[in-house]
Amino acid sequence: PIPVIKTLSELRHWRQAARMANNDVAIVPTMGALHQGHLDLVRHALNRHALTVMTLFVNPMQFAPTEDLSKYPRTLEQDLALLAEVVTKHASTRSTITGTQLTSTDAPFRAAAYEIASAQSPLIVFNPHQYEMYPLRGELQDMNKHSGLRIEMRGIGNVLEGQSRPQFFTGVATVCTKLFNAVEPDHAYFGQKDIQQALLLKLMVTDLLLAHPKPSNLHILPTTRDPTSSLALSSRNAYLSPEELKVAPVLYKALTASHTLWKEKGAIVTGEQLVECSKSIISEEMAAVAASGQAVTLRLDYIELFDRDTFTIIRGPVQDWKTMVLAGAVFVGNTRLIDNVLLGWT
Ligand code: PAJ
Repeated sequence: PIPVIKTLSELRHWRQAARMANNDVAIVPTMGALHQGHLDLVRHALNRHALTVMTLFVNPMQFAPTEDLSKYPRTLEQDLALLAEVVTKHASTRSTITGTQLTSTDAPFRAAAYEIASAQSPLIVFNPHQYEMYPLRGELQDMNKHSGLRIEMRGIGNVLEGQSRPQFFTGVATVCTKLFNAVEPDHAYFGQKDIQQALLLKLMVTDLLLAHPKPSNLHILPTTRDPTSSLALSSRNAYLSPEELKVAPVLYKALTASHTLWKEKGAIVTGEQLVECSKSIISEEMAAVAASGQAVTLRLDYIELFDRDTFTIIRGPVQDWKTMVLAGAVFVGNTRLIDNVLLGWT
């Protein structure tokens, strides 16, 4: 079974043992309700680092009062079973000691500590209670009304996803700062599915002068998709009815059409043209859904081309494609889904 740590003080003990044994530590922050996308992040971390901490915490600060905090899926037992499977497979495919080790100068501690740490599972789960993460706010539900720390990324936190979900990035930045302080990870792994979140956190780590992780050690891994429909995996897909599940892949289909247009035109295309191309695919699908008489609604939130370094939205011609992201959000029924494609970089 996967060791589950619930308190900050236990986590600090674990971290100290890892440090004394010179084991490098990766963090994979999640809100649980795990799917293959989360598991791919964990597998990747396990293959590269001696120890991995998956954090599993449904962070109230990043949900607006109108959003789905109370009904967000919570499936701890199932999550732990999935992780146990990943670790078993991982152990059987690796014959030698896994992961890299940091170079160290504190040799006197090493031998004893190595014993403790090598008895450590390569993966642990940190599943704190709300009052561990928010000691000044405890059980409060509407966190944004009360005092306490908030990390706000001004400007870049207020566009695209941040415009549609005003509290969201403040909640994400605040909880990730706390998780980084709690775990002191050498490396951190995030998914491209939430590209703006990952890019914003990289900028935050830079701006806060954090050492754990260093900005260059915050890694973004590709989006894991359903093999048949190419729908980006998401915990929120669990909200979709079978009919809605058939409509949901349209967002990626739309973004892919723009990507194809971009390639065909040899990149001589404006932001506007790429956005319109995606929007037209979504409109077609909306018309098809309406004509079919199904009880499904599809609504566009936004499609935009933006620069990954400045979060500037680009409608006109593009000077340099090496930092361009085409991202979008749609509502299928009441469920909000996001996706993106990278243009000119990976
Ligand atoms: P959550 O939605 O659980 O996602 C956890 C991590 O898994 C994020 O880095 C996300 O980008 C990644 N992920 C989700 N779906 C993916 C997919 N299909 N392919 C690859 N990676 C995927 O994102 C959050 O939680 C929270 O905002 C969090 C960062 C934990 C802060 O509370």
